[in-house]
Amino acid sequence: MAGQIVVVVAAKSGCGATTIAVNIAVVLRNRGLRVCVLDLDTRFGDVAGVLNLPRTRTISGSIGHDHLDADVLGEIITPHLSGVDCVLAPDKPGEAGQVTPTVVTKVLRLLSDSYDAVVVDTAGGLSAIAVAALDMAHRHIVVSTPELPALRGLRDVLDTLDLLGQPRDMRSVILNRSDATTSISAAQADGIVRSPIAAHIPSSRDVARSINRGMPLAASHPEHSVALATARFVDRHLLPASTVAAFSRRETAG
Ligand SMILES: Nc1ncnc2c1ncn2[C@@H]1O[C@H](COP(=O)(O)OP(=O)(O)OP(=O)(O)O)[C@@H](O)[C@H]1O
Ligand SMILES: [Mg+2]
Repeated sequence: MAGQIVVVVAAKSGCGATTIAVNIAVVLRNRGLRVCVLDLDTRFGDVAGVLNLPRTRTISGSIGHDHLDADVLGEIITPHLSGVDCVLAPDKPGEAGQVTPTVVTKVLRLLSDSYDAVVVDTAGGLSAIAVAALDMAHRHIVVSTPELPALRGLRDVLDTLDLLGQPRDMRSVILNRSDATTSISAAQADGIVRSPIAAHIPSSRDVARSINRGMPLAASHPEHSVALATARFVDRHLLPASTVAAFSRRETAG
């Protein structure tokens, strides 16, 4: 069976889309799934930065191959210590334009045949390659922060997804850096965003530290509030109940 494809989109640049994408990937890995992160921020290659990975093998290794197979997979995958594999964004600025929607579709087909879950990180704004990924995805995650400019950006992204005909029941909205004191209420969120919030991820200085170490909190500190909020979201919205139950049984037994 083809693996689940999850695409993470930011309401506004700097909302924490990459942080959330890599932590979701690690939680899925911690639940026993084979997981790959695909970085479609082709200009700035955010995932390599957050996971402190060298960009020697990137998605560019797939360009020019008509048929993508296990050999090509070996040329584009960079493993991370957390157990998550990554397909990183191109290293050279000139290569970004070569990553077309057709390339993305082919790579995603290969990855979903090879992994249980593929988490796609995108750059701010809905580019043509992000739309190609959204078209193949099983779940769309839109990340915002609780400030009004970001929430308005969130409303715009949701409207654009509607215009593109993307099904609403595939969507989950996550509010990042959302604490009890700073966060808008559920009623306010409904008023501005007109969409329920699936998860609130707290703000923590440990996120910056985790980026400096190249190790997401879900891997280094699974009991951290940021990791726990991410895990709750994954268990409720991304995994079938049977997987969560099997995982809890294993944890209890272990
Ligand atoms: N929950 C959080 N608590 C504290 N800081 C956070 C949190 N989430 C993200 N950050 C910080 O916000 C900054 C931006 O995060 P990140 O790179 O994940 O955002 P992004 O939406 O992917 O940005 P870009 O538009 O550059 O792709 C980083 O410096 C990160 O440390
Ligand atoms: Mg990013």
